[in-house]
Order: sequence, then structure tokens, then C-alpha cells
Amino acid sequence: MRGAKYTRKMAENPTPDAAPIEQDSARPEDAAVSGEHYDARNRAEELRDQIRYHNNRYYVLDDPEVSDADWDALFHELRALEEAHPEFVTEDSPTQQVGAGPLETFAVVEHRERLLSLGNVFDETGLRDWHRRASELAERDDFAMVTEPKIDGLAMALVYEHGRLVQAATRGDGRRGENVTENIRQIPDVPQRLDRASTPRALPERFEVRGEVYMPKAGFEAMNARIEEGNVALVEAGKKPQRLFANPRNAAAGGVRQKDPQVTASRPLSIAVYQLGWADGPTPETHWETLGWLRALGFPTTPDCERHAGLDATVAACGGWLPRRDTLPMDMDGVVVKIDDFAVQRQLGIVGREPRWAIAYKFPPAEATTRLLKIAINVGRTGRLNPFAMLEPVVVGGATVRMATLHNEEDIHRKDVRVGDTVIVRRAGEVIPQVVGPVLSRRKRGARRFKMPDRCPVSGDPVVRPENEVMAYCSNPVCPAVVRRTVEHFVSRGGMDIDGLGERRVNEFFDEELIEDAGDIYRLADQRDALLALPRMAEKSVDNLLASIKRSKSRPLSALIFGLGVRHVGGENAALLAQHFGSIEALQGASEEEIAAVGGVGPIIAESVASWMATPRNQEIVGKLAQAGVRMSEAGGGAREGPLAGQQFVITGRLESWTRDAAAAALKGLGASVSGAVTKKTAALIAGEGGGGKREKAEKLGTPVWDEAQLVALLELHGAD
Ligand code: IVH
Repeated sequence: MRGAKYTRKMAENPTPDAAPIEQDSARPEDAAVSGEHYDARNRAEELRDQIRYHNNRYYVLDDPEVSDADWDALFHELRALEEAHPEFVTEDSPTQQVGAGPLETFAVVEHRERLLSLGNVFDETGLRDWHRRASELAERDDFAMVTEPKIDGLAMALVYEHGRLVQAATRGDGRRGENVTENIRQIPDVPQRLDRASTPRALPERFEVRGEVYMPKAGFEAMNARIEEGNVALVEAGKKPQRLFANPRNAAAGGVRQKDPQVTASRPLSIAVYQLGWADGPTPETHWETLGWLRALGFPTTPDCERHAGLDATVAACGGWLPRRDTLPMDMDGVVVKIDDFAVQRQLGIVGREPRWAIAYKFPPAEATTRLLKIAINVGRTGRLNPFAMLEPVVVGGATVRMATLHNEEDIHRKDVRVGDTVIVRRAGEVIPQVVGPVLSRRKRGARRFKMPDRCPVSGDPVVRPENEVMAYCSNPVCPAVVRRTVEHFVSRGGMDIDGLGERRVNEFFDEELIEDAGDIYRLADQRDALLALPRMAEKSVDNLLASIKRSKSRPLSALIFGLGVRHVGGENAALLAQHFGSIEALQGASEEEIAAVGGVGPIIAESVASWMATPRNQEIVGKLAQAGVRMSEAGGGAREGPLAGQQFVITGRLESWTRDAAAAALKGLGASVSGAVTKKTAALIAGEGGGGKREKAEKLGTPVWDEAQLVALLELHGAD
């Protein structure tokens, strides 16, 4: 949540078209930069205008132009100016407003008890200072604390009466919010009715639960992809249909503030609850117990909450989150630390809008603005030309970012990103940083529009754009970039899993003409001296590499099919093809129709596989592999054999060190089958991060739920790689 400590006031009577600030070069900030004289009063006025303008883009249009950090800088500057010159403070200044007032479309809800905000600290010293102040006031420092992720979404207050959800309201300005009950009912994990029997504690007649509505990162990516594909139904009325959401937080806010609850229902929204607001009836006496009670009642609480006995453990837990911040399925922008005991909470009380008993330990922002220096092109394994942004280095979320993806030419034009622009860059999850969009107000004259080149930057061959595709491709099937990337894919973990062969090595082997395609990898064993002559290639590295190459010959058929790099064939399809045909030979001999008839394999994949197999150059590669002794068939001609034969597994959630496809391929390599749904037959559910629904089903059926370590142990036990 941006500027968490200071919430914003929207522009008065905002309309989607409101743009209180002109966007030409005569904007006050440019004038200030150019050194023109501005006295403090004028500057404060400019800052107020700019903040209102950006508030409108953020809250009303869900389409921010500047990063949170930039907004914070404007806000801080205004506050400092007003503190130095209290006579300039106006009643309607954003600094005097305590939050975004309700939108006119929804009925106003008076919160029975104010929804509070949180103070921020940014490092260990800040956290220890907060603890010292709290200890002094409480006259004790032995209190336990709870740490929980600070989820970047939209605060929500849910009121339950006799166990039924009767009202859901946004935070608004803390006292008055918007009644969004019907929309919130569309969110599947918001309990509509509570099961009184689920906890021994009596259910208060009426109570309020507070939490954060968010959009999981995966859902956000998928939704943007669907909008990109032209699914206009997903797009809010009154907006340009092709507009992508800037980030999950804005997408969640937009999803909740829909006039039509069905549109909300089409958005992948979730909730995580973190607090009991008020209750008519007895409730637990600590925060930790409250969380457990809420969970028992069926509320999804914030994930990975921890209770710590003292300050050092709390500090360590906060620091420990930073490198893991991307591992959660939702965006988090910090850690909330809360004193566990409600008696201590009551003793400490509230100052302004912030409780003294809780604090937000904020992470460096995941968004920043920087300059787009150049749009360069990378040619992928399928020959696709992928434009990417080369940026003036900027620190985003604690890491320096120099490059970011730009998807395709159409996307660049849709976002209207131009070379020379100041752009918003965002890091989300392990995903490569993205260019969210330009800061139009800072566009300089001469910013250049991008045009995809007519020729491939690697091979120089003409670029083609297949009908109905937004992507451009090199027309040369043996473009050096394509061939090299294909070899990288062949040796990758889900493929032949050859250690020590990264992009640099593969390029070197091509440059030294040691290989021409994937088939030549198995001939490297005869080129020991040439390998030893390469830089950073000691005896041991060569031995390890050759041993890994040798080992890869017995990879399962599914890994080989995946590794060949046939367009559209991922791990799952490779496994289906391997299981059905049982050998490369059978696959080579199959017609397109026969391939399409395999359950789970569609016509597009069938066309792609058949045409790959029919290409003489590919047949040559397969020939080389067969000659080298690479395993070309499923043991037992397609029937499942192996130590796990007859056992069925289901994989869900995000695994830390594998893709789900790779884990499935490894299990299948041992004879197991991997299915998409938990049933009575399932031997075990392997659950990574997230994946709530399947876990619940497994728990209901009494199916064992394994974590990743148990999967690895099983594979190791059976000698899988
Ligand atoms: S506790 C008095 N816990 O952060 C405590 N808030 O800056 C009030 N938020 O409005 C909130 N995750 O929308 C709390 N685990 C969490 C949170 C959380 C996200 C949001 C919430 C609140 C804002 C305060």
C-alpha cells in the first residue's frame, strides 16, 4: 500500500476524465527544475495539485503514473514545507486529509470503530526505537510480538451477525467507507456463514473482522494476459478496453469497486484477515489466539504469522522476510509487528490514527521510475523477437535493475512507451522486472516510438509476423540464436538436466565449433582436449560435465521429448506423448490426427509435433541422439514401470526449487502418474506455497500432504536425479 502512513484524499468529485494538472512542458515541476523562482507558497500549491492529480490516477483511475516512492517524495516535501510555513496550510491540503473518502457510487458506511493506520519503520534501528518507546510506556519489555506479512491490497471490514456476513465495507477515511457487500460476497474465500461448531468458544452475536482483499500474483498475470488477448469483458466500463492493470493492488481495488458484482466475480480476488475489529461478546485475549480462532471459524488469515517471545527474534523475523518477500503468492510491502497481549495493547493505546502497539516494517518499494535508454531485442528459442528495455540503473525492491521486459511491439505501443521516456519499473515475484508505463508528464520532446526491425538482429533474415499473432519471429529456422537457445533448453533441468551447461558455455561451444546442435553434445566426450583448452575449464569441470552428459542418456522419454524444444510442448504434454507413444520412433511415425487424439493434447500441439518430426534437420538430431545411446523409449514400451508404478500423485502450489512440470516428470520417470485432482486414489498431495483448495480436499479425504522436502526424499530414495 503506497504511503501507508499517509492515506490520500481523492480529487473532489472525481470523474474518470479528471486530470487536474496539464501535462505539457509548462508544468510547474519543470519550471522549478529549470530554476525559475518559486516561493514556498507557490511550491506548496504546485505540490498539492500534483498530489491530487496522482491521487486521482491512483485511486480513481487505478492507473498510477508515478511510483509509490515518487509519490512519497512529493508528500514529504509538501509536509516539510507546511511544517516550516504553517500559514500556507489549506484545509483541503492532502496532508490534512485522513484518507480516500468514499466513492459516490456506493452507499456510505459509518464504521462502528475507526479503522486505524500503521506507523512505518524502514530498518532495524527504527524497529528497536519503536519497541523502546512502547516498553517505556508499558513499563515492561517482556511482551511477545506477532509478525505477519503486510499484504498490499485493500483494507476491508466484514461484519457478521449470528454467524452470517451482513456487511462488507472499505476502509475509506477510517471512519466512513463504502458498502461493497454484494461485491465482497463474490470472493470465494470470504466466509458467508460461519460454522459455530468449529470452535468451542461461543460466537459473539455481532462482530467485525478486518482483512486485506488482494489479487494473487498468478491471478493478476493471468488476468492481464486475458485482457491482452482481447477479453474485453474483464475490463471496467468507461475505460479503454485494452488497458492492462498496473499492479495487483490496483487490480484488486478496481475489482472491488465494481458496480456489477458479476464483474467482481470474474476477478481472481482473495482475502487475508488480520484483526478482529469489535465484538458483542467475549473474544480471545491475545492477537495470536484471535488469529487461531478466526482460522478455526474458516477465515483465511495472513499467511506465515509467527509469535516471538522477544525483540531480537522479532527483528530477525522481519529481516528474514526481505529475501523471501517474493515467495508469497500475493504482493507484500512489509512486515506488520503487533504486540500480542491485548492488555498491553489497551495500555499503549492510539496516537493520531496509529496504534502504539503495532508498526509496519516497510520494504524498499517494488516500483521506481527511471529512464528508458534503449529498446533492444533478444531472439528466443522459437525465433521470437522479444523486445526489452535497457534502463538507467535503478534500485527497485532492494535490487539494481538495468533491464526489463516489454513483451511485444503492440504492448509497447499500447502502453505508449518511447525511448527516452521516464518509465515506471516494477519488480514482482521472480518475474523479470516489467516496464509498467511511461510518466507522460515527464516526456521530453524527441522521445522516439519503437518500431520492430524488418530483419532479425542475429541472423539478418527477414522478420515475419504470423496471422493473428502479436509476436514477430525470425524467418530462419536455423537462426544462430534459435539453435543456441534450443540447446540451452535441451540441457535444462526439465529436459536432459545436464549440469554445468549454462548460456555462456553453450555459446562458447558454438563459437569454438564444438557443437552445431543438441545431437553433438554427446560427441563432446571425444573432445576432451578441446574442452580443457577452454577458459575456466579445469580437469574436474570437464570430468563433471562429461559425467553429467553421460548420465543424461538415461533420462526418461518425457524429458527427452520436452528437451527437443518442440513449440508448445511443455513438460505436461511431453509426459502425455511419452506415455501414449512409448518411443520416439512411434511418435515419429504418428500422423497429426493420431497425435491430436491423445487425451490432453490439442490440434495446435499435434500440428507442431508432426511438423517438427517431419523436418529433416530435426530427424538428423534425433538420429545423432539415438546413435549416442540416449534412451529413446519408455521402459516397457509405454506401460508404466518403476518403483512408483501404480501410484498417483497430485502437485499443487509453487515449489521452491522445481517447476511443477519438472517434479511431475521426475515422478513419472519412476513410474508414477501425476494427475490434476485429488481423489481417493491419490497416494499423496505434494503441496508447495499456496494451493489452498487441493490441500483442503486432501485433508478432507485423509490423503497425505507432503512438502517439497518429502518429495525430494522420495525421489532420492529411488535414485532419481
Ligand atoms: S493491521 C492497527 N495487519 O496495512 C492495525 N494491516 O497501514 C491495522 N495491512 O489499513 C492494520 N496487511 O490495509 C494489519 N497483516 C496486516 C496487514 C495490514 C496489510 C494494511 C491494512 C491497513 C494498512 C495499515
